[in-house]
Amino acid sequence: MTNPPADPAPAGQAPAEGRPNWAGRELLLEVGAVAHGGHCVARYEGRVVFVRHTLPGETVRAVVTEDGGAGFCRADAVEILTASPDRVAPPCPHAGPARCGGCDWQHASGPAQRRLKAAVIAEALTRLGGLAPEQAAVTVEELPVDGPNPLLGWRTRTVYARTSDGRIGFHRHRGSSIEIIGHCPIATAPVGSPSAVARAAQAADRPGATGIEVVGPDAVLLHTPAPASARRGRGRRPPDRVQLIEGPASIEHVVLGRTFRVRPDGFWQVHPAAAATFVEAALAMLDPQPGETALDLYAGAGLFTAFLGDRVGPTGAVLGLESSRGAVADAEANLGDLPHAQVQVGSVDPQSVTRLAADAGRAIDVVVLDPPRSGAGGPVMAAVLGLAPRAVAYIACDPAAFARDVRTAADLGWRLAGLRAFDAFPMTQHMECVGLLLPAVAP
Ligand SMILES: C[S@@+](CC[C@H](N)C(=O)[O-])C[C@H]1O[C@@H](n2cnc3c(N)ncnc32)[C@H](O)[C@@H]1O
Repeated sequence: MTNPPADPAPAGQAPAEGRPNWAGRELLLEVGAVAHGGHCVARYEGRVVFVRHTLPGETVRAVVTEDGGAGFCRADAVEILTASPDRVAPPCPHAGPARCGGCDWQHASGPAQRRLKAAVIAEALTRLGGLAPEQAAVTVEELPVDGPNPLLGWRTRTVYARTSDGRIGFHRHRGSSIEIIGHCPIATAPVGSPSAVARAAQAADRPGATGIEVVGPDAVLLHTPAPASARRGRGRRPPDRVQLIEGPASIEHVVLGRTFRVRPDGFWQVHPAAAATFVEAALAMLDPQPGETALDLYAGAGLFTAFLGDRVGPTGAVLGLESSRGAVADAEANLGDLPHAQVQVGSVDPQSVTRLAADAGRAIDVVVLDPPRSGAGGPVMAAVLGLAPRAVAYIACDPAAFARDVRTAADLGWRLAGLRAFDAFPMTQHMECVGLLLPAVAP
């Protein structure tokens, strides 16, 4: 694969002065490699075009949806002139150009989706992570679902947006307009069936509702705009205010025989098979031993903390760190049978990592890092690796952020010694990686 340009994430820049705005223009394109962001790359009159609803190798007629102004634009393929053998009919009636923005690859077969994701991971790890192509090669593994098609029926939570006239649906790609939804085939029945959508639509009647979040099997959360005081920075929309309006105060998840209870607005993996898969992958890489000491950074409701606690046993210790007070309260309950495994409230930063290790009062053997999309970042990576654990498992939902952190680790004398990737978000551009970092030179 040739290296495609990176996804130009910022939206809405105006075209450079004097240059015609291509928005709305029709282009005939030979489509090249996939790029991070759910699109493929084409070139036209010297400009890069990020094209959705197409596949590598296709010839398409496309319409420019956004002129990015910095030598690139975005387009939707509206007619496929030469189709890829990987193309399939989208199973969702809401998929397609200018339709629902929730999925990116409805028009690709399952194996093709996983190959596209593997290419995106490899590209990030070579371009941003500095790895050789053979070190960055990975097979993206399918996760099982309770149903005949592993691409559908997996999403256990979703946020329906509400239109001003009280109907519900999903936002169109990079837009504020809403595609009205009858059902969502990638969701589980309690979240995406016609009756689940009708229930959400009814809840959306509440005053001030901007969205309704359905969390399987039976919780409904009301989204209303956060007060202006919650605004985080110029132009940035504050996070919604989220309030439970139907269903239980905690949702039960059984993972590898262990029961976790998590409040419906708390973080939990969306794919039903994801939590167990990632735990098994991380434990296989770290192989924690009785008596060892582990850190679980970005610990959520204690998922990895608990399984690390099982492995290190009462002569060992696990210390987790998590910024959400609600998640830490859930973790406390979830870890009730493991007094040697605890999660503290706090933001993961270099000082808190150092303090956590000091609290442990003994050398740190293994670390789990499961950061949000932005990744751990250089200073946190440096602090974690500075503790000299024997191994670090990194669970990553954004391959670019992961690759940057792998690069930092390499600069500090560590290597990516293991890598697995999972299609935990079929039909969408998203994927999850689990990587093992070891000292480049064995101590
Ligand atoms: C990807 S989730 C992982 C949670 C948990 N490991 C699991 O698998 O269920 C990331 C978690 O990090 C937390 N978080 C985000 N930024 C953080 C920060 N700067 N410091 C500590 N926790 C943070 C979030 O609240 C969330 O629970």
